[in-house]
Amino acid sequence: MIDLHLHLDGAITVPIAKALAQLQNITLPASNDEELLALLSVPEVCESLNDFLKCFALPCSLMQTPEGMEEAVKLVCEDLKSQGLIYAEIKFAPQLHTEKGMTQDDAVRAALSGLKKSSLKCNLILCCMRGEENEDKNLETLKIAQKYLVSDDGVVAVDLAGAEAIYPNTMYTDLFDKVNELGLPFTIHAGEASGAESVRAALKFGAKRLGHGVRTMEDPALVELVKERGIFLEMCPTSNRQTKAVDDMKSYPFMDFLGKGIRVTLNTDDPAIERTTLAREYEYMEKEFGLTKEQEKVLLNNSIDAAFTTDEVKDKLRTMV
Ligand code: ADE
Ligand code: ZN
Repeated sequence: MIDLHLHLDGAITVPIAKALAQLQNITLPASNDEELLALLSVPEVCESLNDFLKCFALPCSLMQTPEGMEEAVKLVCEDLKSQGLIYAEIKFAPQLHTEKGMTQDDAVRAALSGLKKSSLKCNLILCCMRGEENEDKNLETLKIAQKYLVSDDGVVAVDLAGAEAIYPNTMYTDLFDKVNELGLPFTIHAGEASGAESVRAALKFGAKRLGHGVRTMEDPALVELVKERGIFLEMCPTSNRQTKAVDDMKSYPFMDFLGKGIRVTLNTDDPAIERTTLAREYEYMEKEFGLTKEQEKVLLNNSIDAAFTTDEVKDKLRTMV
């Protein structure tokens, strides 16, 4: 299995949170695992992506020192490896790790050390964040991405994450002009909490990969365009159900997109927050949507084609699926 869309702060499980707290002498705001699980994962009633994004405060608070950051990346990689993943791209926003004095650069360096300590084949994607008055922070993220950019075994791309309903991609033309000027590979959360216009903006920026892309379904001409251009969609069904990216999962467009030949991939987004794993996402798609083993091969090959890594690594991954 391959996960191309997984947020570090969304992958902090109960055991990982406990290990990070112990390492840094942090007292967790929970007296047992059950309480901790409730704090680390999405509530029964989750109305939107905005509600969902509130769950990130606790995991982020455990990754504010170089030791915490390094250990978090290492433990998440080990967790993924133990689940049978052969490749992953882990994303995080360096600007969310500066509450206790780390710079964005410190946070990235610590994450790279964590990556080296794990045997999982894995790369890092640096996220810019949607929000108010953080243009400078986002530009700094791009500069750091440029500084550390490699074609494999490190920082391989950038992304834009956060509350898309409030800050759609149409607001980020300047940011992506800069991304293109710097020649950074990128993916963008698009068509998750906002509709077709946000996806169109991402395509205008030159995106070849979209985080989610679900709401492309709202515009048939756009569905055609995504297909024609061979755009990869990093779809994450449990996340989309919980954030209500679609009103009713009966109309979830995954199988429709796949049937049309759109280059769909299957991912988790925030497994710990969603209480899921990639294996469970596959099971869910099999059970609820009749996803076949043959289609799973197509998804895996799409993930390999979409991956931000070298052709050499891709060839090796192809021999493994
Ligand atoms: N950050 C973590 N998960 C996210 C999501 N699903 N959309 C946007 N930003 C996120
Ligand atoms: Zn995401």
